[in-house]
Amino acid sequence: MNNFRPKTTFIGKKNIYLPTCQSTNDEAALLLQQGAVAEGTVVITDHQMAGRGQRGSNWQAAPGQNLTFSIVLRPAFLTAIEQFRLNIAVSLGVWAGLMPLLGKDLKIKWPNDLYYKNQKIGGILIENVLQSSRIETAIIGIGLNVNQSDFTNPHATSLRNITQQMYDLWEVLADLLLKIEENYLLLRSGHYNRLKMRYLQNLYRYQEIHLFGQNDTVFEGMIIGVGETGKLAVQIGNELQHFDLKEINYLV
Ligand code: BTN
Repeated sequence: MNNFRPKTTFIGKKNIYLPTCQSTNDEAALLLQQGAVAEGTVVITDHQMAGRGQRGSNWQAAPGQNLTFSIVLRPAFLTAIEQFRLNIAVSLGVWAGLMPLLGKDLKIKWPNDLYYKNQKIGGILIENVLQSSRIETAIIGIGLNVNQSDFTNPHATSLRNITQQMYDLWEVLADLLLKIEENYLLLRSGHYNRLKMRYLQNLYRYQEIHLFGQNDTVFEGMIIGVGETGKLAVQIGNELQHFDLKEINYLV
């Protein structure tokens, strides 16, 4: 940790390592409440006791074997309605950091899960603080399964399970931070369209026909894009429908 020096310009230049905590997102929020926090500050822990996931779920990771960290960003160049753009840049950053290790079967599952084939290897929880319709601060929480080999959930996997290798967590972290920064800087310098195109190119089940579920109904559809506010655009027969996170489930 003491000699952790990612090749970034600002993300991860300041790091706060906590052997254990409830949630790195909560720790980052606490720091922000307490006063000035440099943009790019990373809070990282070996053991999260109350890790949080999307849709009110929890995030579980075996202590010391995985990456669980949060990055503080200040994307005031984005308005509240552009929040999904940050999601695109960060997911692509994580994807690009892992791609050299995992190859083309690595995909981004909308909105921001990392999938290898049909199993989840990582997830992202972004929590924004808005001020007069701009994003004042964003806490980017990332959980990545690295060296853990046993999972109770059959849909979960790790770098180790995929490649049969063990990884240095700090090295993987440095790769991720570099790519997240690269993509964030592209977003900040006005290259959203390029990022969105890459996001779609690497989206899980993009332009493939699959079964989806909504409440008690099952339907066949094809993901054809993502709307400006981040809703998933699915072509169902002759109709184009947009879904929120809670409104659609991917089936087989
Ligand atoms: C998801 O896939 O549901 C998102 C999971 C996000 C987990 C990370 S681990 C670090 C950070 N702290 C948290 O409490 N959650 C995020």
